Amino acid sequence: MKVGFIGLGHMGAGMAANLLRAGHEVTVFNRTRIKADALVANGATVAADIAEACKGDAVFTMLANDPAVEEVAFGPRGILESLAPNAIHVSSSTISVELSERLSFAHADAGQGFVAAPVFGRPDVAAAGDLFVIAAGAPQTVERAAPLLEAIGQRTFVVSEAPNAANLVKLSGNFLLASVIESLGEAMALVDKAGVGKHKYLDLLTSSLFGAPVYKTYGTLIADERFEPAGFAAPLGHKDIRLVLAAAEDLRVPLPLASLLHDRFLALLANCGETLDWSAIGGLAARDAGIASR
Ligand SMILES: NC(=O)c1ccc[n+]([C@@H]2O[C@H](COP(=O)([O-])OP(=O)(O)OC[C@H]3O[C@@H](n4cnc5c(N)ncnc54)[C@H](OP(=O)(O)O)[C@@H]3O)[C@@H](O)[C@H]2O)c1
Repeated sequence: MKVGFIGLGHMGAGMAANLLRAGHEVTVFNRTRIKADALVANGATVAADIAEACKGDAVFTMLANDPAVEEVAFGPRGILESLAPNAIHVSSSTISVELSERLSFAHADAGQGFVAAPVFGRPDVAAAGDLFVIAAGAPQTVERAAPLLEAIGQRTFVVSEAPNAANLVKLSGNFLLASVIESLGEAMALVDKAGVGKHKYLDLLTSSLFGAPVYKTYGTLIADERFEPAGFAAPLGHKDIRLVLAAAEDLRVPLPLASLLHDRFLALLANCGETLDWSAIGGLAARDAGIASR
């Protein structure tokens, strides 16, 4: 297929590379032009602007947050203005349930397709083409986008015909991930202060009752206190907790744990700046306990 890709950050670069690898004709656009160079060297065409990236059968967005997607989609010479009738906008950024709904209505009005396809997996997983894709949209549109989704991930889960359901599921997943990071950080601070080695403790956990990838990945980052360079930056993690709380508020679903996580992210951003990985909230408990090594 002829596909555009807008947003070549930590995640988008690997996803676009896998679309190329799968044999699709890929035109890329990134606000900061230099990030397109590696993809161009591998056969992608670089678009001069957003409109030029919207000339194919579909265009992906993998941008930081709601304001970025809003600008790129609704702005002048943006996706809404530029995409051909029947062409599909595949929205993979983790955005709000509310913006996803607005996008689905706007694309329907313009006679264009819209698939929400947020993903689970960090940048290394994106580069390997092993993401889990949470997709939602009109069945025929999701079916037309399927070869593209297969190129970026190991499995696609279609959760609903309403696109924004995929965004809600994605946000719920990041809420769970942040909960695991926080609780792992607390448990590790506890045993560490008593003199039990963190790596030995993590090995025990992941070899017994907690064998899931999330405990292995984040447990290792916390035990190593390896929060730089960020694979998923803390401000984006904070954004996701804000978005899950907003969705929960609209649905009148109290999420007391998410409220706590919101404050943990604020403490992290206030004390440690904006550049650490979001897993650094797992280091806050050690600081509170007076045992953080830095
Ligand atoms: N990293 C992860 O582990 C992970 C996993 C799953 C989902 N996600 C989600 O995937 C999305 C991208 O994450 P990421 O880690 O790839 O972020 P990132 O490395 O910070 O990349 C963000 C991208 O958005 C672009 N951008 C930001 N503001 C913009 C604006 N106003 N106009 C145009 N472009 C703008 C950036 O362009 P510049 O290069 O010019 O700054 C860059 O291409 C986020 O929604 C995130 O929550 C991330």
